[in-house]
Amino acid sequence: MMNKTKRWWQTAVFYQIYPRSFADGNGDGIGDFTGMIAKLDYLQSLGIGAVWLSPHYPSPNVDCGYDISDYTNVAPEYGTLEDFKRFLQEAHARGIRVLLDLVLNHTSDQHPWFVESRSSRDNPKRDWYIWHDPAPDGGPPNNWWSVFGGSAWEFDARTGQYYYHFFFKEQPDLNWRNPAVKQAMWDAVRFWLDMGVDGFRLDAIGTIYEDPTMPNHQGTLSQLEVLRAWRENLPAEQMQQLTNAMMETFRYQFGQPEVHDLMKELRALLDTYAGDRVLIGEDDDIAYYGNGDDELHLVFNFPLMRTNRITPAFVRANQAERLSKLPPGAWPCNTLNNHDVSRMRTAFGDGEHDLSIARVNAALVLTLKGTPVLYNGEEIGMTDLILSRLDQLRDNQAINAYHAAIADGATPEQALALAARISRDRCRTPMQWANAPNAGFSPAGVETWLPVNPNYAEGINVAEQEHDPDSMLNYYRRLIRVRQRTPALYQGEYAPVDEAEEYLAFTRRDEESGQTCLVVLNMSPEPVATSLPVADRARCIFSSHGREGRGIAPRHLHLAPFEVLIAELEG
Ligand code: NOJ
Ligand code: CA
Repeated sequence: MMNKTKRWWQTAVFYQIYPRSFADGNGDGIGDFTGMIAKLDYLQSLGIGAVWLSPHYPSPNVDCGYDISDYTNVAPEYGTLEDFKRFLQEAHARGIRVLLDLVLNHTSDQHPWFVESRSSRDNPKRDWYIWHDPAPDGGPPNNWWSVFGGSAWEFDARTGQYYYHFFFKEQPDLNWRNPAVKQAMWDAVRFWLDMGVDGFRLDAIGTIYEDPTMPNHQGTLSQLEVLRAWRENLPAEQMQQLTNAMMETFRYQFGQPEVHDLMKELRALLDTYAGDRVLIGEDDDIAYYGNGDDELHLVFNFPLMRTNRITPAFVRANQAERLSKLPPGAWPCNTLNNHDVSRMRTAFGDGEHDLSIARVNAALVLTLKGTPVLYNGEEIGMTDLILSRLDQLRDNQAINAYHAAIADGATPEQALALAARISRDRCRTPMQWANAPNAGFSPAGVETWLPVNPNYAEGINVAEQEHDPDSMLNYYRRLIRVRQRTPALYQGEYAPVDEAEEYLAFTRRDEESGQTCLVVLNMSPEPVATSLPVADRARCIFSSHGREGRGIAPRHLHLAPFEVLIAELEG
């Protein structure tokens, strides 16, 4: 018989730390490991079982750390390898696992591999990257684009060839068809696994291989549309159309079949280590689960966040589609925001009830079937910050969008408004720890790397929320706690109860313990009366409206606006 006991990465609540913005331990305006270590007790008190760190490696920071110049070290502004080891040890001592960000597709152009590769055509590392002769007219080899704007090909005058980059030109793509690249990268993977890290979040795996026959794409999106895709908060249908158009534009640069063999190889490498190390894919394609046990352990359910309004029908359709497609044994993974998109409170708000909606959505991500991944700051209800000056922008993608908009005929004011609105900086501002200068992230008077959102003074900070039993922070704590002690919630099967428009009702049934929970999320600003045909009686185990511990009758249920209710069914 199959062992039904769930693995740690199925039951734990994950939390993404954006190192630059989490906690500044040495007061230079930039987050670091000393700061992160000091906040581990906080994460433990929240009930976090695993953290994923966005890149902590040395980097020229053209793409905020996703341009790595040394895969086996720590960026000096974050500390030293010794600091990292201390972080890992202290996290483990609190029962918190640590995942690193693994960027396989590209390195920084400052990485010694690329410095060598570009030095001459016969350098032994030449073939570690993707070099091509110019087209007969001297232009780029084909019409492929970079997803961050402009051609995907950059001319290198010294050697008279172009190199390929899916992202910024400072992020040359590695040539993964060269076995030496694979060996070098697997060495880096072993370096961290040997040190005891618990796994990796895989960056941009879809882009690792390109079609070797290099056909021109027939996509119809403009440069500016490419830059805006996935960055604007749009209705689900528009998001879907854009996604389809992006797939067409990047079709030969994306999702090549060989990537699955590579993922299998990486998985096999991880499986040689004890301790159940884990791989999470930053790509919504279910194919990365492989047969359910031979590629990635978890693949983000990104379609769940590709909307500007999370409605009951939207969630039901998402779950029906996603869960039915998972291969046997595969485990879902849900998230509502990360360092690339609008914060969940801003993204799904209606402008009037944003906080209430965020609370409902927090309950959603923590009660759906699958591993939930939170993004630092969502637990205190942090919001996007729209910057007002061009020189404040740190996200070079937004700066490219600014220039593309100007080229398109926009005025500087219009271009800045657009760039600031879609800039990833909006969700990367420093964590708000207290109602104090710099939100307690850095000492008073220090200029932080991105401006602090002034709304820390309006209660959106950890210290004040600690003491308020009704705060967002304590709401997340309660939700996580009930999840942790309720097998139906952390491992049960999902089933929708009805097709209601205003509220989402579903059950989570755990065969092993025989427990069934009912989750009801009123996603509307109106009260709702309903009858849920799941059982005559149930005991409320979580409530946004003071029903905890009380009995309810699912067949006669009155919900307050935005009410959240979790109940254990009784017979
Ligand atoms: C996805 C990362 O999440 C994003 O921040 C980054 O810019 C690209 N991959 C390139 O590494
Ligand atoms: Ca610092």
